[in-house]
Amino acid sequence: MPRSTIRRPSPELDLSAHFRMSDDLPAELTSQTLFQNDRPLEIEIGSGKGLFMSTVSQANPLHNFLGIEIATKYARHAAGRLSSGQNTNAMMVAGNAEPLFQKSIPSESLEAVHVYFPDPWWKKRHRKRRVVNEVSVRNYCQAIRSGGRFHFWTDVLDYFEMTIEMIAELVPEFGVPIPEEEIEATHDLDYHTHFERRSRQHHIPVYRVRFEKR
Ligand SMILES: C[S@@+](CC[C@H](N)C(=O)[O-])C[C@H]1O[C@@H](n2cnc3c(N)ncnc32)[C@H](O)[C@@H]1O
Repeated sequence: MPRSTIRRPSPELDLSAHFRMSDDLPAELTSQTLFQNDRPLEIEIGSGKGLFMSTVSQANPLHNFLGIEIATKYARHAAGRLSSGQNTNAMMVAGNAEPLFQKSIPSESLEAVHVYFPDPWWKKRHRKRRVVNEVSVRNYCQAIRSGGRFHFWTDVLDYFEMTIEMIAELVPEFGVPIPEEEIEATHDLDYHTHFERRSRQHHIPVYRVRFEKR
């Protein structure tokens, strides 16, 4: 299914508090360096249009949220959503999450990592391009504090099963997968993410799980 078109944020919106290019980030990504406070930090990888980032940050004002999105126009769109909502505890970064997790996130520092509907890369020879892979799951596990969470949702059964097997083998500290429930939508944007909305509106099954690090 092709992606829908994306609107540029209005030029009148000030994105300075909600948008950074990855080259302009501090060397360490923490609540202190990004938000100048010590609240728990959660990271979403591949935020797309930013529905999760805007709803979760409004619902949890005592946590900070960083969205990392490789497509700059989507990152800017998501930042525009945060700026319109005047969310002060959320920020978008345009860039690749992988090097940031390798170099910039202190060990055991994150409250949660969220990955929702990552690109499936169907062909076997392209599987290493998947955002959740053998290297990244180790990085996520290293970055999450004991008791913190890793959320993974997809509508691709093969990706879901491979991820669960890979985690059991490579990062047993994540423990057993905990199913997450589908919540009935009460309005047109009452979904976790835009891709969840799209899958559910087309009656495509969604596989949802979280891990809690021991
Ligand atoms: C299929 S979309 C899902 C978007 C959103 N999570 C949702 O559920 O609506 C996957 C997103 O991940 C982004 N992405 C892919 N690889 C990435 C990477 N290495 N770092 C950050 N974002 C990435 C893509 O640009 C795309 O916006």
